[in-house]
Amino acid sequence: MYLGLDLGTSGLKGLLISENQELIGSAEISYGVENFATGWSEQNPEDWIKACESVMNSLSSRFSSQVSALRGIGISGQMHGATLLDKDGKVIRSCILWNDTRSFDQAQKMDDNGVFREVSGNIVFPGFTAPKISWIKEHEPNNFKKIAKVLLPKDYLRFWLTGDLISEMSDASGTSWLNLKNRYWSEQLINLSGLNVEQMPKLIEGSEVGGLLKRKFKQQWNILGDVVVVGGAGDNAAAACGCGVMSEGQGFVSLGTSGVLLAARDGCFPSPETAVHTFCHAVPHKWYQMGVILAATDSLNWLSKISGKMPAELASLVPEEPNGPTKLKFAPYLAGERTPHNDSITRGAFIGLDIGHDNSILTQAVFEGVAFALKENLSALKKTGAKIEKLYALGGGVQSNFWLRTIANILNLTVLLPKKGELGAALGAARLALIAGEGASPEEIITEPSVDKVIEPNSRLEAVYDDAYQVFKKIYPSIKELK
Ligand code: XUL
Repeated sequence: MYLGLDLGTSGLKGLLISENQELIGSAEISYGVENFATGWSEQNPEDWIKACESVMNSLSSRFSSQVSALRGIGISGQMHGATLLDKDGKVIRSCILWNDTRSFDQAQKMDDNGVFREVSGNIVFPGFTAPKISWIKEHEPNNFKKIAKVLLPKDYLRFWLTGDLISEMSDASGTSWLNLKNRYWSEQLINLSGLNVEQMPKLIEGSEVGGLLKRKFKQQWNILGDVVVVGGAGDNAAAACGCGVMSEGQGFVSLGTSGVLLAARDGCFPSPETAVHTFCHAVPHKWYQMGVILAATDSLNWLSKISGKMPAELASLVPEEPNGPTKLKFAPYLAGERTPHNDSITRGAFIGLDIGHDNSILTQAVFEGVAFALKENLSALKKTGAKIEKLYALGGGVQSNFWLRTIANILNLTVLLPKKGELGAALGAARLALIAGEGASPEEIITEPSVDKVIEPNSRLEAVYDDAYQVFKKIYPSIKELK
């Protein structure tokens, strides 16, 4: 038996699979995000621990014989957050999350020093870990002085489970401190943040064993043998492992809080000027590239909040089958944007509102606006040399047929909906544990899923969507001017 734990932004999920990758069961607990000021986003690491303990208690009571036979755990999680520990291993302050943009000044300054892009292969985005530490250094010097270790969220969970201070390549790629090509901490970049390498956890690969589950937890959950805990992965690398996206030509689009268009790469081809993220994959000798938009389902959630209608109700207002774009355009920059604009100041817009427009047109425009933003990500990815021949669709947004078909039409790509797409990152994490536990190769375990639906782009509509995309592309430069 193998377990995948996924420490998400809105909750923690545990998924049990057998050696043959049969799904045994899952449990999930939600928690909140605290927004003390505009652009701020924090979580108390204690909430992750409580959620993990409840998830494990629930799994061990519902699937007791299977949990007793547990052999390995893989952990995946939201990336970039800074979890700071003092010399006694105590958390110093709440974790500043990936979607917190308070450190945009610090990020800009670091990014201006070209060495960060050169070594880490990426723009220093305000969401990344290093600028958060610079913010703390400037605004909370007493907390900064206490830092003994900087952990990523899922690695704090590992620390609780095993007592080991370990991270792995895929999550470390989003700190701005990793030497991306050679897969080790860059002392130079860490020193530029006023820290030293001893303040970083040890680095391993995602499919490598990093430690053993503590004895007290084996007793608590009635587990019989030793349980290895592997490196695991940042959530996007883990989701890629969950749907077999590991090599050139394979990709996925994820419609979660944020939107991701990801392409697996057989080599390291950083291209920071495109604002595409280039990160190590969770298995050795592989990388991936992705465009990230900050508000995908969050755009629909925002419309839901202001219209007073639940997201599913809004989604039911549009037809199943799209029949060309609406004139109303939506720019989804509700929290600024990462790819391709790298802009934490500009905000979103509706352009072309008419007195006759209602919730159904607004919803259609939101779905299309996110799809157009993903198309801009696709063209940024193409500039890096990445190709997407097979595109899986993942995340909560896949429940809308209209949205999926709109994405297929706008990206002009066939979209594949996996049968158990919602398992995503937790399944990928469990697979990483399975590789180590069974001594298998990544290729044997990280296979492509069976497909529920194949959505082909509608060639009849290609030209009208393309015209609408040309209009969409003009929105960002115009609203940027107005800020
Ligand atoms: C990736 C990113 C998000 C978070 C969300 O760079 O910031 O996908 O990992 O969980």
